Amino acid sequence: MLVNRMEFDGFRNLKTGVFCPAFDINIIYGKNAQGKTNLLEALWLFTGSRSFRGAKDSETVAFDRNRAELKLCFNSGGREQKAEIFIEKRRIAKIGGIPLSSSVKLSGRFRAVVFSPAHLSLIKDGPEERRKFLDSAYCQLRPAYHKILADYQRALVQRNSLLKSIRDGGSSAGIDIWDEKLAFASTQVFAARTAYIRRLNPAVQKIYAGISRGSETLNIKYDSCAGDETTALKTAYQNLLLQLKQKIDTDIAAGFTTVGAHRDDLSVEIKSKPVRIYGSQGQQRSAVLSLKLAEASILKEETGEQPVALLDDVLSELDTSRQDYILNHINGWQVFLTCCDPSPVYRLTGGRVFKIEQGQITQEH
Ligand SMILES: Nc1ncnc2c1ncn2[C@@H]1O[C@H](COP(=O)(O)OP(=O)(O)O)[C@@H](O)[C@H]1O
Ligand SMILES: [Mg+2]
Repeated sequence: MLVNRMEFDGFRNLKTGVFCPAFDINIIYGKNAQGKTNLLEALWLFTGSRSFRGAKDSETVAFDRNRAELKLCFNSGGREQKAEIFIEKRRIAKIGGIPLSSSVKLSGRFRAVVFSPAHLSLIKDGPEERRKFLDSAYCQLRPAYHKILADYQRALVQRNSLLKSIRDGGSSAGIDIWDEKLAFASTQVFAARTAYIRRLNPAVQKIYAGISRGSETLNIKYDSCAGDETTALKTAYQNLLLQLKQKIDTDIAAGFTTVGAHRDDLSVEIKSKPVRIYGSQGQQRSAVLSLKLAEASILKEETGEQPVALLDDVLSELDTSRQDYILNHINGWQVFLTCCDPSPVYRLTGGRVFKIEQGQITQEH
């Protein structure tokens, strides 16, 4: 996977222009608030996922414009491909000039992994971020998973609206059907996430051992009322259905469903203790990086192509041995690395250097 060029117009604060990166390391540096993260965000949108900053599509259109356009020429599967994104109120996309029914359909064509300081929330915050990580990673691997998630969401919304109506005195007819539908859809999500975790865990362990120089072990597990990554799907379905029935009174009182894939979590542990609670800053940062690098290594195994790495301001807060490990690890990938001061990185890696100032990108060497 290689980006040849990206054109942008009306996207955040980026000045209309063209960006032609090198095939190895691209260092993008500049002061705060100049547009470094905006550039990575523009590249990221071509994965078909939502902004890694959690921004709404419409927020990415430049303040003084009503439409943004991004074009990406990239090499994948041995040929050059062209993708386009147009954002007004929402995002639409084309590939090879042909409109896609939804920008989500870009998923699986252009593949990237991103790591930014905001991703620390993956460890620090509640389970939602971790579910999003699993779901977005698995969508890049198996684009059909988008539909499974959408089906689940639909079943959840419908069951919730029935619960509210029962709470407000409506009939409870049909709840059994929605219990079954939701248990089924939840099992599909469970199957995807646990399959991914079984795959991810050995890769994460290996990378974390590298980053920490073998002094610690990291382990991830699926934490769900349906079971864990070793549970058979039939059992998971039965567990879900049983608990939906057991919690029916609570759910009616609450007006929403308290059992299912939307409540699950990924537990991340160092020496069998949750990193979220007991980990130091450095351990948390290294744990997130390990998850991200492991995600990239699985994509590589599966597709034969190394995904593009978008590393937003990651090196600044790591000690030199951890920096060295990461820079060695990503040797041979196409990397977009942002920082305030390029000199230490440049000494270590070489690569092409771009300066960004008030959204204007200029190549320096
Ligand atoms: N929709 C938008 N239109 C124009 N400017 C924007 C928009 N969204 C954010 N910005 C500007 O982009 C700048 C932040 O860019 P960012 O890429 O986050 O900076 P950094 O270089 O620190 O990573 C801020 O000056 C912000 O005002
Ligand atoms: Mg930034």
